[in-house]
Amino acid sequence: MTRRVQYTSNGDIDQLHLAEVAFPEVGEGQVLVTVLYAGLNPLDWKMLQGGRFGSVETASGNGVDFSGVVASVGEGVTDFTPGDLVYGGLPKQAQTEQLLITDPADRLDRIPRGLGVDTAGGLYVAGRTAVAGIRALRLSEGDTLFVSGASGGVGIIVAQLARNLGARVIGSASQGNHALLESLGIEPVTYGEGLWDRVSELATDGIQAAYSTQGEDEITGMIDLGIPADRIVSIGAGPTVAEKYGVSIDGEARARRDDMVWLGQAIAYGHVHVPIARVFDAEEVHDAYRHLLTAHPAGKVLLRFPAKPLTDQQRAHLT
Ligand SMILES: NC(=O)c1ccc[n+]([C@@H]2O[C@H](COP(=O)([O-])OP(=O)(O)OC[C@H]3O[C@@H](n4cnc5c(N)ncnc54)[C@H](OP(=O)(O)O)[C@@H]3O)[C@@H](O)[C@H]2O)c1
Repeated sequence: MTRRVQYTSNGDIDQLHLAEVAFPEVGEGQVLVTVLYAGLNPLDWKMLQGGRFGSVETASGNGVDFSGVVASVGEGVTDFTPGDLVYGGLPKQAQTEQLLITDPADRLDRIPRGLGVDTAGGLYVAGRTAVAGIRALRLSEGDTLFVSGASGGVGIIVAQLARNLGARVIGSASQGNHALLESLGIEPVTYGEGLWDRVSELATDGIQAAYSTQGEDEITGMIDLGIPADRIVSIGAGPTVAEKYGVSIDGEARARRDDMVWLGQAIAYGHVHVPIARVFDAEEVHDAYRHLLTAHPAGKVLLRFPAKPLTDQQRAHLT
């Protein structure tokens, strides 16, 4: 048996629980990963609630992002070997001790040297979304970009990629996260009442592009500020805003297969910093989601599954 976070009916965070499930068997072409870290995303919570993400009929796994170590490979697998450190994403499945990957060519990559296993475990959704969004923003050196939710999982990557392309970046976040943004070369503003006045005061020469992580009101605010609709990317207001306002909704669905590898290397080489706000043990999954949704975390929130006891070979090194 192994353990996974699961839920049997849609609802709120309290529906999540750690359940004992059968240990998955590895078949031909498949890879079994012992998960070490599983990143949390608002998307997991939206899926848990059901709605447009569909409702669950039977017990469902939870979470998308993961990192870990290859435990075993099925016949015919040549790209991975046991012991490889890997990361990837698998919707409604990632938060489990033993994760069976049936399509490793599409789902799994080796963690590049220099990228932490913890950081890698929180990258899939936010990282791929950010890279796809940056392409859609069509930034040039000297552009000014406004990023909402710049302290969040997606925004903090978008903002730094834009800085790497030579853009000036103004990012909204709550006051407690302003120092973090400043340390990354992002000019912070507080969201809420008076946001657009504060942004205008900072950007006296205008804003060429914007990345919106929030609702429809934010998009109208950006358009009123004079930002061209075709230079606004929205990931938080649903699909209808594309037709209604002419903005782009290039989110994770527009990511390319190699975006994770590209971003993993960019982080390993120091171009992008992805802070880890807090790590929770898998047993603390309720607290972990509450932290993500209410505590304004500075960076990613991760679940950690316990490392296995040392092997005899590892023990021998210590004696
Ligand atoms: N379409 C897609 O493909 C796609 C992909 C990924 C994510 N998303 C969606 O994009 C959104 C952001 O995702 P994420 O992973 O970055 O979330 P996250 O890590 O939870 O970050 C949320 C960000 O929003 C900020 N924020 C909170 N309340 C706000 C408000 N009232 N006004 C403005 N900013 C506010 C937070 O700032 P503070 O913490 O500093 O207060 C934080 O920077 C979520 O709704 C998510 O579901 C969509």
